[in-house]
Amino acid sequence: MTRLAGIIGHPVGHSLSPVFQQAAFDHCGLDVRYAAWDTPAPELAGRVEGLRGAEVLGANVTIPHKEAVIPLLDELGDQSARVGAVNTIVNRDGRLFGFNTDGRGFVAALRQEAGLAAEGRSFLLIGAGGAARGIAFALAEARAARVAIANRTAGRAERLAREVANGANGTGVAAVAMDESLAAYDCIVNCTSVGMEGTGTEGELPRALDGARAGALVVDIVYKPAETALLRAGRDAGLVTLGGLPMLIYQGALSFELWTGMVAPVEVMFEAARRALAGAAGERARP
Ligand code: ATR
Repeated sequence: MTRLAGIIGHPVGHSLSPVFQQAAFDHCGLDVRYAAWDTPAPELAGRVEGLRGAEVLGANVTIPHKEAVIPLLDELGDQSARVGAVNTIVNRDGRLFGFNTDGRGFVAALRQEAGLAAEGRSFLLIGAGGAARGIAFALAEARAARVAIANRTAGRAERLAREVANGANGTGVAAVAMDESLAAYDCIVNCTSVGMEGTGTEGELPRALDGARAGALVVDIVYKPAETALLRAGRDAGLVTLGGLPMLIYQGALSFELWTGMVAPVEVMFEAARRALAGAAGERARP
């Protein structure tokens, strides 16, 4: 029997997940078809109910349904309840389990692609939207020493910092000003859409990198263009840089592992995504 999986969102036409998830299933010799399940809000409940069928492995969930899907599921695993968002659904004998691999994908990408273990490190996140949220919770889970959050709208950073601090196990979490000194940070992460192709901010920096310590890692979760203005500035300043594609691939790899119990063929997924990106429109690191 051909099994099914797919991504639930609206719109999902430009999603890279069908490309790199299908490549992973094919590479592993699994008879699975991964589809783009474009789902307007009124159809969400029916779509999720359909995942209980024996032929369905599960699904990814993306904008705008990551929160709305929660009451439709039977159980929440990992941190998805605290984060308040689900990006992965697993069908186990008709029961639907929700997970969130976005933030853990970020932490895995840091470790695997930049050689940085989050534990004991200090992070400055720029942005306080959904992307920053998943990353902040995952960094606290990974026992980062400090997670500071700076945002254009300061109140959003303060609210997110309070939520993450509540229950963080030893991680110092705080909202800081956008012009916070960078000297204390091992890693600076752009979690905003600034610099993304198609937003009118391409070529802009979410903030300057002056004062970053030597050897600091600059991460941009924007993956198109592959080198954003922020990454270029980091490189010019002699800092270490990481683009947004690894986070996208590792969140998908963790979803693949939840569905199959197999180790995801990460290199195959990267290769398929890079090929597709060569012709795709600009997006941020999201499935
Ligand atoms: P997502 O779920 O993808 O994170 P979001 O929740 O809309 O999307 O959050 C977008 C983030 O990018 C926010 O931190 C937003 O800042 P505000 O909270 O002040 O809106 C930030 N952002 C978007 N455009 C920006 C810009 N031109 N300058 C600075 N920050 C920007």
